Amino acid sequence: MSEEIVIETNKLTKRFGDFVATNEITFQVKKGEIFGFLGANGAGKTTAMRMLCGLSVPSSGKGKVAGFDVYKQTEKIKENIGYMSQKFSLYEDLTVMENIRFFGGIYGLSRKEIKAKMAQMLERIGLEGQKNKLVSDLPLGWKQKLAFSVAIFHNPQIVFLDEPTGGVDPMTRRQFWDQIYEASDSGITVFVTTHYMDEAEYCNRISMMVDGYIKALDTPANLKKHYHAESMDQVFYELARGAKRKGD
Ligand SMILES: Nc1ncnc2c1ncn2[C@@H]1O[C@H](COP(=O)(O)OP(=O)(O)O)[C@@H](O)[C@H]1O
Ligand SMILES: [Mg+2]
Repeated sequence: MSEEIVIETNKLTKRFGDFVATNEITFQVKKGEIFGFLGANGAGKTTAMRMLCGLSVPSSGKGKVAGFDVYKQTEKIKENIGYMSQKFSLYEDLTVMENIRFFGGIYGLSRKEIKAKMAQMLERIGLEGQKNKLVSDLPLGWKQKLAFSVAIFHNPQIVFLDEPTGGVDPMTRRQFWDQIYEASDSGITVFVTTHYMDEAEYCNRISMMVDGYIKALDTPANLKKHYHAESMDQVFYELARGAKRKGD
């Protein structure tokens, strides 16, 4: 892994009225890293990710993604990242091939490039035989694999995945993570949110979010050591318990 920093925040904050959804988060992500945001529903993961993707203007604090400012250079950010949102990014009423063409076009690839890369991509994820199928007819796990491949189709520097494996079985989740590792091996930095504790183990570093705050940030091994825990579940339980006590 290189030492180059590709995501950098300093006290980045998002308020909705009086409510602080993401509270002064500060962290750095290195090029090629698989960086996880772990937290319960409502912890502020999606809000943080949307600011980093240039989709939501922060309330305060600083942030740079791929070297670009999250306030002023959001168009530049969008050109350099891929994004797979929590609520599906593919069109259900288009076929597999039509989706690839459509998103390839949005990401600025020429028809020729799209054609050349599409066959390769479909073969890699085992969907060649399904290319004329409507996305709505694919099982959820395949939709997720396709959505991920589409998100990295233009070879972005960083890919943002928001709970990419929600609702699928552990086996399918494992396969999805093989895809993430491949992308990471090819030099793409992966920023992923999840509320599955087992997925935390697959990340190089994990940031644990509770009620808008980053409560801990380290490698899974170091976190377990620090909290005398055997699993990430236990680490998370300790953190969430601490947060509740403070709020009482
Ligand atoms: N546009 C919005 N307006 C008001 N509150 C919001 C908005 N978006 C998110 N929130 C609130 O911010 C909190 C964090 O949400 P979110 O970032 O989606 O959490 P997570 O992705 O970790 O489940 C939640 O309480 C949610 O209701
Ligand atoms: Mg979310």
